[in-house]
Amino acid sequence: MTLASPALAARRKLRPDFLWGAATAAHQVEGNNVNSDSWVMEHLTPNSFAAPSGDACDSYHRWREDMALVKQMGLNCYRFGIEWSRIEPEQGEYSNAELDHYRRMVDGCVELGLKPFITYSHFTVPRWFAARGGWEEQANVDHFLRFCERAAKALGPNYGHGLTFNEPNLAAQLSWQPGFRATMPYFVQASAAAAKAVGSDRFSSTPIFDVRRAGPIQAEAHRRAIEAIKSVRPDLKLGLSLSVADEQSAPGANGLQRKIEEVYAPWFDAVAKDDFVGVQTYGRAVVGNDIDLPPAPGVERTQTEMEFYPQALEATIRWVSKATKRPIIVTENGVATADDGRRIAYIDGALAGLSRAIADGVDVRGYIHWSLLDNFEWNRAYTAQFGLVAVDRKSFRRTLKPSGLHLGRYARDNSI
Ligand code: BGC
Repeated sequence: MTLASPALAARRKLRPDFLWGAATAAHQVEGNNVNSDSWVMEHLTPNSFAAPSGDACDSYHRWREDMALVKQMGLNCYRFGIEWSRIEPEQGEYSNAELDHYRRMVDGCVELGLKPFITYSHFTVPRWFAARGGWEEQANVDHFLRFCERAAKALGPNYGHGLTFNEPNLAAQLSWQPGFRATMPYFVQASAAAAKAVGSDRFSSTPIFDVRRAGPIQAEAHRRAIEAIKSVRPDLKLGLSLSVADEQSAPGANGLQRKIEEVYAPWFDAVAKDDFVGVQTYGRAVVGNDIDLPPAPGVERTQTEMEFYPQALEATIRWVSKATKRPIIVTENGVATADDGRRIAYIDGALAGLSRAIADGVDVRGYIHWSLLDNFEWNRAYTAQFGLVAVDRKSFRRTLKPSGLHLGRYARDNSI
């Protein structure tokens, strides 16, 4: 007797406009993003990056090829970022050439039959903005609003979805992670060194900032950015994305509620009127009294030291849907692994849970995988592979992995 694989067992048809996508972020794929805060941090001596971002995947030039791969897989949506530090490299100096570049990307995406999904801010900010105190300074909100309005005008009418911010709750979430907490003293020094490097008395860079100050300022920036963008594009579906782990309490521990209040509650309030919430899930967190516990001994770990735990997605979308009563779009979900078979298993596990949640009435409108490409994974640089597509580091040649075609089969059939 042969058993049907779970992927072929009774499949659930999804709504016809369900988004099936892959995501990138400007700094992680474009290359030579020299006016950004991250570029400054990457070039300090010493610094915490395994390597500088450098040419990244050269997607600044190769974006058509990237989009063609999304299409080739059978997906219908490409999430990508516009880079503020290219568009406004010096305060108040906007580059029409860069605005045109992103407009060409939006239009090029549509020409291929893909829906562009735009991230206005994915962690990086212009170095001048960091040097003015970044998200820790209330007066800086206006700079972001001007950028959003300007970009919204330039990008034109050919995209339907946007995110103001990618994971503005990440810094708060990281502060619960033992490894991150241990490196805090280094980050304080790095921030002082970065300030010196740019000739300022401060440098506020994501995620190394005072979360308590930055959180409310970014929440306000989000709300007002939505107004600014909608003044140009009232029809756009807009929201932000949150980093959401499947938060579980360690037996007998008491930290979970406090963590939820610090990391999620303010953001669940901030999205109350949004068109959707972007959920970004990579695994679970087991929360102790005031810190997350490391994965249990012997569990399978990913290249980023997380537990391999695809079932987290079902829990996070159910939770965020219940807490916010907003439609959900999974704007990132994925796994860092050199073994593409494990990525396929991860996708199957995550989508099975997504399907169960939809069957129970959870309003999920899309699944966008992180990431399209093996790219610049922040501090880990090029040592972690999240991509559905491999990228040769010298020639930039792209190679579609079996996992990309596997995800595409769900998308072509629009069923799980
Ligand atoms: C971020 C991405 C990052 C991914 C994997 C998310 O937190 O939005 O920029 O590469 O996680 O670590």
